[in-house]
Amino acid sequence: MDLVCLCKGIEKDIIIKSVKDGADTFEKVQLDTEAGTGYCRASRCKCKIEELIRENK
Ligand code: FES
Repeated sequence: MDLVCLCKGIEKDIIIKSVKDGADTFEKVQLDTEAGTGYCRASRCKCKIEELIRENK
């Protein structure tokens, strides 16, 4: 298990699937998966999510 968003417990595979399904911005991944919507308001996961978008879109 490779957690990206610790607050929401969202795994890397879920983010990658969202990006491959067309979520090509941080905001779209947020809406699609709830990653980045937790208590820390993405301070811990935004960079990692943006990196996954760059690598997988
Ligand atoms: S780790 Fe993602 S919102 Fe806090």
